[in-house]
Amino acid sequence: MKHALLAAASVSALLFSTAHADDITDQKVEDLLSQMTIEEKVGQLTQFNGFWDVTGPAPTGDDASESRFDFVKRGLVGSMLNVVGVEDVRTIQEYNVENSRLGIPAIFGYDVVHGHKTIFPIPLAEAASWDLDYIELSAEVAAREAAAQGLNWTFAPMVDISRDPRWGRVMEGAGEDPYLGSAIAVARVKGFQGDDLTAPDTIAATIKHFAGYGFAESGKDYNAADVGTVTLYNVILPPFRAAVEQANVRTVMNSFNTLNGVPATADAFLQRDILKGEWGFDGFVVSDWASGREMIDHGFAADRLQATELAIKGGSDMDMESYLYFDHLADLVEAGTVDMDMVDDAVRRVLRVKFDLGLFEDPYRYLDDAREGELLMAPAHLEAARKVAERSMVLLKNDNATLPLQKGETIALIGALAADKDAPIGNWRGQGEAGSAVSVVEGFDEAGLDYTYAEGAVVQTNQPTFAEEVVVNMDNRDGFEEAIAAARSADKVVIVLGEVALQSGEGRSRADISLPGVQQELLEAVHAANPNVVLVVMSGRPLILTWADENVPSILQAWHLGHESGHAITDVLTGKYNPSGKLPMTFPRSVGQIPVYYNHLNTGRPGPINEVFWSHYTDEENAPLYPFGHGLSYTEFSYGNLSVKPTAEGYNVTVQVTNTGKREGEEVVQLYLHDKFASIARPVRELKGFEKISLKPREKRKVTFTLTDKELGFYNAKGEYVVEPGAFDVYVGTSSDATLSASFELKD
Ligand code: NOJ
Repeated sequence: MKHALLAAASVSALLFSTAHADDITDQKVEDLLSQMTIEEKVGQLTQFNGFWDVTGPAPTGDDASESRFDFVKRGLVGSMLNVVGVEDVRTIQEYNVENSRLGIPAIFGYDVVHGHKTIFPIPLAEAASWDLDYIELSAEVAAREAAAQGLNWTFAPMVDISRDPRWGRVMEGAGEDPYLGSAIAVARVKGFQGDDLTAPDTIAATIKHFAGYGFAESGKDYNAADVGTVTLYNVILPPFRAAVEQANVRTVMNSFNTLNGVPATADAFLQRDILKGEWGFDGFVVSDWASGREMIDHGFAADRLQATELAIKGGSDMDMESYLYFDHLADLVEAGTVDMDMVDDAVRRVLRVKFDLGLFEDPYRYLDDAREGELLMAPAHLEAARKVAERSMVLLKNDNATLPLQKGETIALIGALAADKDAPIGNWRGQGEAGSAVSVVEGFDEAGLDYTYAEGAVVQTNQPTFAEEVVVNMDNRDGFEEAIAAARSADKVVIVLGEVALQSGEGRSRADISLPGVQQELLEAVHAANPNVVLVVMSGRPLILTWADENVPSILQAWHLGHESGHAITDVLTGKYNPSGKLPMTFPRSVGQIPVYYNHLNTGRPGPINEVFWSHYTDEENAPLYPFGHGLSYTEFSYGNLSVKPTAEGYNVTVQVTNTGKREGEEVVQLYLHDKFASIARPVRELKGFEKISLKPREKRKVTFTLTDKELGFYNAKGEYVVEPGAFDVYVGTSSDATLSASFELKD
């Protein structure tokens, strides 16, 4: 899809049919490969970090950097990461084209995760929009800006499913559900790659982290994952598979973790049998930052030499920042430990992607100073960021119609995050400038609201870099009095609390996911002064909001929304935009419930019963605070007339949705399926369809979902896809708690 908003940039169609172009590319790749020395091949499989920006631990204890840089200058390094901007990219590309024997262009990768210069909502927030067009648009804009800075490859989207909000990287994914996650993975890859990868405004995408990274034990980043076949095939792999099969994603990044004891970097079952074999993936696999070298710490490889052998044999094509292939691969080939065929296969894949990007036709195709000047933070990009941000918020609670704010009301706007211009930029900020988001205070000013601002308490006491820990304010309550006074004299309180940008993201696992520092105390103190409170939560993950849910009439989950945060939040608070987001991840009541997710299996003792012998906690409810799919609107929707009709391919499930409120609004109509008895126990319900619709007051719409083998089946313990006859229930409604249901019997 090319969006009308960006139509001016659309490019001409492909000259050849895909099949024809593929044959020609294959031939060119073979010609080139046949001329390459082992040194040149190893160079194509090597990725160095740029010397200007580090997004991971730098290599220590060796004096080889000089010779590495010399290698770069001779144009022998096939790929760089963290080299950004027309000038720097051009310098390195010239080394490749002019200084090397074969002139093979380099490919430049960067973490363009939620926008490049114009920052969009964090991916988890965008997932809450359930709006695939806008999610695709966000990636499309990011690609345009990244390409304008000479980049041709992003390490996004992250498609790791996760059920653990303690894991800081949930901010970077699409949440807990494989069906929603797959649809979003496809939309994001299409957004980045477009219809024509050779166009100057599209870039190659990477799906990551293959695989199991989101199942890091105890939510601790980089930790081991231990996952059975059923979860692997039904939950973790589907978004990867969808991006390969439906969006032709060009690259895959493996992961830091071990999966069932095998580091993903060396996992031939995942990378060779499944990805490249069963799914026919013909792009290349890049390791994660030094994940090859880390196999020694995992206790899997005895030394760097063995790590090199295990990584290449396991199917890792390109080595990011381990220097393993660079230092040892040629020796292993010479010793006969690694077959040249295996190296050739990896090189072939890398060259193919470079051909796909059109880099051989014009290695400087992304390098245009004028585009760099014009496109970054273009007005249309900011407008898109605002629309995506509006759609990403989730209204968790709204008693007594506390929201939207009414004209003439006086407001106490409280919380350091309300004035924070940096937190909304989020963790993976690309080239987004620190402190450049529109704050809520600025949004209120522009909207002309009658408000008094009081900081209350700061969230952090330092200004950490990407590699440093956040120091949380645990004791400074100096601003409480002012905040309490402001609350007392206003009609309503809008209090903005939560996490700063670097409290979620890579390496940012938290064991306690309540409001950090003294913010809970501030909330309670302000609430005691004026209970008419709207809590706006900025965070990169679900937080524990149980006290707020019990006491505060209105809660808006606003995540980290990017540059247009303050505008978008004001639009929702004032009702200019009617919220439509739905949770892509369950909000627990307490940390002890984690992992808590909607598509769990039943137990043999689901209860409740009047004695202790059922599956429950003695000190906590089983139900989460807010379930997956939950999200309110300023209008109401009713569901009725549910019917299930057999068709030649499966079943059509039809429901009638009516806007019973007084405002126009969007609703995400959700369909869940329960396979009641099967050869393996199946989840209590699973999302198998959704549609976002807009209805005027009193307007009705029939929505039909189609269930075919694709939705009705599952992967069994052998990893085989089976569709088993038997009884099914469907639930249709406004969240995973939907109660409207029907049943049908799938016959042999
Ligand atoms: C490590 C992260 O895990 C990965 O997602 C990222 O792309 C690389 N660093 C490069 O920055």
